[in-house]
Amino acid sequence: MSFLVSTSEMQRISIIIPFLIIFLSFVAQTFSLCRPTPHFTKTGNATSFFRNGITLWIFFCITISIVGCGDDNSMPINKDIETEVDIFTEREWAIIQRLSPLPEKPPPNPTNRVADNPDAARLGQMFFFDERFSKDGTVACATCHSPFHGFADVEATSLGAGRGTRNAPTLLNVAYNKWQFWDGRADTLWSQALIALEGEKEQAGTRLQYAHLIKRLYQNEYETVFGPLPNLTDTSRFPLDGKPGDTQFDNMSEKDKIAVNTVFANIGKAIEAYERLLISRNAPFDQYVAGNLNAISIEAKRGLKLFIGKGVCILCHDNPNFTDNEFHNLGVPQGKLPEDTGRYDGIKQLLNNPFNGGGIYSDDPEVPQRILDFLEPTQQHQGQFKTPTLRNVARTAPYFHTGEFPTLESIIDFNNAGGVPSGFVGMREGTLEPLNLNEQETKDLVEFLLTLTGESLPEHLLRKPDLP
Ligand code: HEC
Ligand code: HEC
Repeated sequence: MSFLVSTSEMQRISIIIPFLIIFLSFVAQTFSLCRPTPHFTKTGNATSFFRNGITLWIFFCITISIVGCGDDNSMPINKDIETEVDIFTEREWAIIQRLSPLPEKPPPNPTNRVADNPDAARLGQMFFFDERFSKDGTVACATCHSPFHGFADVEATSLGAGRGTRNAPTLLNVAYNKWQFWDGRADTLWSQALIALEGEKEQAGTRLQYAHLIKRLYQNEYETVFGPLPNLTDTSRFPLDGKPGDTQFDNMSEKDKIAVNTVFANIGKAIEAYERLLISRNAPFDQYVAGNLNAISIEAKRGLKLFIGKGVCILCHDNPNFTDNEFHNLGVPQGKLPEDTGRYDGIKQLLNNPFNGGGIYSDDPEVPQRILDFLEPTQQHQGQFKTPTLRNVARTAPYFHTGEFPTLESIIDFNNAGGVPSGFVGMREGTLEPLNLNEQETKDLVEFLLTLTGESLPEHLLRKPDLP
């Protein structure tokens, strides 16, 4: 199986073998002529010895010249890199190396000063699994982001306090994302969590309710990480329930609102510290790129070649987390779901969110604010959705923002057909054309996607911890 040996080695072997054969036959001939064989003594044929010798010498010289100058150009430039050039050109291999490994740690998040604090992560894990953080005490983050389903949802659209209109993405490697949500309406993980905690379709509780919950159940753990809680005992100043838009909250003094908002933001910051530990690396694909040539099958290797070539998947799924961190309109049909403008509304909501990275609850607002200053919703953003990670994609069906695509084959068939003409907002991206993949090529691409499932997380991160 030649794909297990790099071509440079193959070339060397194929050159040496004929050379050896000719050299050995020359030695054998010479040896046999030196002995008094019947042939030699009977005829005394010195001319034939001479002729055979010359022929062999010509062969010998030609071989030497081939070995000497024939093949320098086809040697890889860096001979240390195993380039599997039977399958991949050096250029393709260079592209493949840009997809692996996933850095050991996600990029730092200075907007959250406890992002990498272990006490905060332990507290965040409790919040993540604690169903009391919801309107009626039945829904937690883990309800829709199940650790046993790749931290995604088996349902097409999630059921929390209400039925949502989008599919729940995986939280594995979520801290590598630049934007959160399909429409990028959160620019940090901590502000994302706050949207879920108060979202009508998700946990549907209120920040005042949660602040009192912290006071009642989590005061010690909270204060270890964040310092003293505000004194919430006076319920005429701090009603038991309410969020912006509710009169109880709106009637509070500015100072008290900020005190409650700070507790609320800190809940999100603890959850982010936990989410930053949900890292799944070292998939078979990574082992392959690191030099274990048997880590993935030949079908997957062909799929990888399609991924970076004919399938043009690499156009958008282009970094070690298999996303460009950008938004595109693939023309995914809404089906029975309501119209969805995606990134267009996402930008508006992000700019209006007091908990965005540039706001007063951010621990380092300067850089995020500069990025926000450049954002403005335009027609081009209509119907765009975030390029999702493809790591662990085998574990997170169903797919696309609608959750209407049950299998990986169905996604590739959709891309292969060049999409559908209508049923979505905005304009489908112009670069997306039919791919002309045949059935085997579709299978190979799926085989490749299956090699992106990373190592399991430590068991203690998957469990609901003991709650106070
Ligand atoms: C009712 C189900 C449900 C609950 C409860 C829920 N989520 Fe989600 N989550 C979703 C859905 C659906 C999306 C995608 C929604 C969107 O993009 O508009 C999502 C998106 C996310 C994302 C963005 C991921 C990405 O790649 O864009 C993160 C992070 C996240 N949720 C974390 C949480 C946390 C933390 C909690 C608890 C505080 C939580 N979720 C509660 C369903 C839920
Ligand atoms: C133009 C950019 C672009 C290209 C090219 C592209 N994708 Fe995607 N991909 C996206 C976006 C954006 C989404 C989310 C679309 C949505 O839900 O509306 C997506 C979603 C997916 C999903 C679903 C993941 C999930 O969790 O729901 C898979 C699988 C996928 N792409 C694989 C591929 C493969 C394989 C190719 C090549 C054949 C490819 N993509 C080409 C941008 C792209």
